[in-house]
Amino acid sequence: MTQAAAQIDLAVERLRAGRLVAFPTETVYGLGADAHNVAALAEVFRAKGRPPNHPLIVHLARDADLSAWTTDLPPLAVRLIERFWPGPLTLILKRAPSVPAEVAGGQDTIGLRCPDHPLALALLAAFNASAPARQRGIAGPSANRFGHVSPTTAAHVAAEFPGEDIYILDGGACLVGIESTILDVSRLDGPAARPVLLRPGGIAAELLAEVIGELPGRAGVVAGQPRVSGSLAAHYAPRTPMTLLDGAHLSGMPVDDRVAVWSFSLAPRGKLWRVAPAEASAYARQLYARLRELDQLGASHILIERPPSGPDWAALHDRLGRAETGSGF
Ligand code: TXA
Ligand code: MG
Repeated sequence: MTQAAAQIDLAVERLRAGRLVAFPTETVYGLGADAHNVAALAEVFRAKGRPPNHPLIVHLARDADLSAWTTDLPPLAVRLIERFWPGPLTLILKRAPSVPAEVAGGQDTIGLRCPDHPLALALLAAFNASAPARQRGIAGPSANRFGHVSPTTAAHVAAEFPGEDIYILDGGACLVGIESTILDVSRLDGPAARPVLLRPGGIAAELLAEVIGELPGRAGVVAGQPRVSGSLAAHYAPRTPMTLLDGAHLSGMPVDDRVAVWSFSLAPRGKLWRVAPAEASAYARQLYARLRELDQLGASHILIERPPSGPDWAALHDRLGRAETGSGF
């Protein structure tokens, strides 16, 4: 047996025993538990320090039987799945009664996605082979403490949970680097109904529009919206106080060696100055590792130059804004 196969076997054994397994996806690392094991789900919430009413995403294999998860699969959802799975798109659908309410934080909906990562897909295939037919999914929030920066390497996960009994599958650094886009397609009945973007992420809204035929609605505009922890104003946050500012403002500012900077300027000033990639996907891939690094430099403050506008940068503006709001605690 190869080393990877042995690690997957061990991971499945642990999931079966109701224990937690962290696994890589293309976006960020997930903290996995058997989605039908209510005690294991409770462990996920406890380990993360996450309130039990914040729903988890369930990760599914490519060939998943969606009727085990949702009572209502609109044709639009099928088209989105065909186009974007495996990939960084989470769909919110009506939850089937057999899916534990706990995994959905008590919501009558369920978040589902098929991750585009060979190790995650191998884990799902092996887990599913030992699971009852309608219980084939791994619940997995990002593998970080509630409100903190998401992990994009196995070492980040280990650093988040010292002393916890969590088996970590190491798949290297995540290629997308920010979380999946979350699209609510659970309320498409009704005259003005359209899909709602709950969290911008790995797939730009403009790309979703190619399948939907229009841009998705924005969260907060629709009444009775389910709660999304990633939509809290303070999230994805470093502990050092952090400020976003425009390049012009930054270049006119004195910067000393107590201030950590992440800027597009190629002329670093100060020892704690890091240069940001000019291209959005490279920036996303670096974002969380960079926030962790800047947080650990012992700086009194972190300054981050605001990225350009445009569709490719929308999810990054979202994460940076929440990191700024939540920083310093
Ligand atoms: O890329 C990702 O989505 C990563 C990887 C591991 O798959 N997962 C992730 O999980 O970011 P988490 O739990 O950190 O964020 C999931 C978000 C939360 O904000 C949660 O509130 C929302 O998805 N969510 C899950 N189920 C939902 C539901 N039924 N209705 C509304 N929001 C939901
Ligand atoms: Mg998270």
